[in-house]
Amino acid sequence: MKVTTRALAVLSLVVSAGAVSIVAAATDAEDHAADEIRKYRQMLEDGNPAELMEMKGEALWREARGPKGASLEACDLGLGPGVVAGAYAQLPRFFADTGRVQDTESRLVSCMVALQGVAPADATRDWYRPGSDLEALVTYVATQSKGMPIRVPVSHPEEARLLAAGGELFYRRSGPLDFSCATCHSQDQRRIRLQDLPNFQNPADARASMVTWPAYRVSQSAVWTMERRLIDCVRQMRWPEPAFGSEAIVALQVWLQHQGDGGALQSPGIKR
Ligand code: HEC
Repeated sequence: MKVTTRALAVLSLVVSAGAVSIVAAATDAEDHAADEIRKYRQMLEDGNPAELMEMKGEALWREARGPKGASLEACDLGLGPGVVAGAYAQLPRFFADTGRVQDTESRLVSCMVALQGVAPADATRDWYRPGSDLEALVTYVATQSKGMPIRVPVSHPEEARLLAAGGELFYRRSGPLDFSCATCHSQDQRRIRLQDLPNFQNPADARASMVTWPAYRVSQSAVWTMERRLIDCVRQMRWPEPAFGSEAIVALQVWLQHQGDGGALQSPGIKR
């Protein structure tokens, strides 16, 4: 009996010590969070580093490059050759010349190949590297839609097919963790590691998120495009990594942009 009492006392000491350290850790985390948020606000006031990417992207758009020595100025992003303003707000969309629904990233690659004669492997090489040409070009294109409402077309049968596939992918659980996108993105007011986790089922949340991409990620010192964001979420789910420009990633974008329909773009955003 005595032993049991002592054991209980020890146990309760351990438990309360544990509780104290949990409380301390939580307070530390909150302090840290508040600090980080202050830092971002400061950065926003000083200007978003993504603006440098926008400038680099614009220069790349206008520069004669590749074996054909041409610029990208004749690239059709969906609103006609050379029209950049408003194009990002309506991507992904179907393109008759490639017969595919394309996002900004994959469309830019098609233009580099067709207009500049660049080999597809060269056009996508190192796309995930901070400061890559594709990152800069996407940032430039996206900022030319600032203030415009997201409105992806879904009337072409291919667009409608990808919209349905995107929804399917969002909700379907699979992989070693049996996760779907909805596992993490279907509750309101959720946060992981300081970052709001949008509930993409909710159009207001979807709009608030989708209008901020591409975004400068402070923790990575790089602009992330939507492809990059989605490929990283897929990686966290331990699904096989999709190829750049893959139909699955484009389908998810069609679905997400459709959920965020009407949101006025604020690209480039700034994130943890
Ligand atoms: C294991 C949880 C988890 C799963 C599953 C998951 N995500 Fe995420 N997602 C996150 C986290 C965490 C962030 C915030 C990014 C960060 O700072 O790390 C995020 C961010 C995002 C964002 C950007 C939100 C914003 O505006 O900041 C999008 C878009 C997104 N996820 C889409 C998806 C899609 C589509 C899927 C399914 C293919 C998916 N996610 C699966 C955890 C997840």
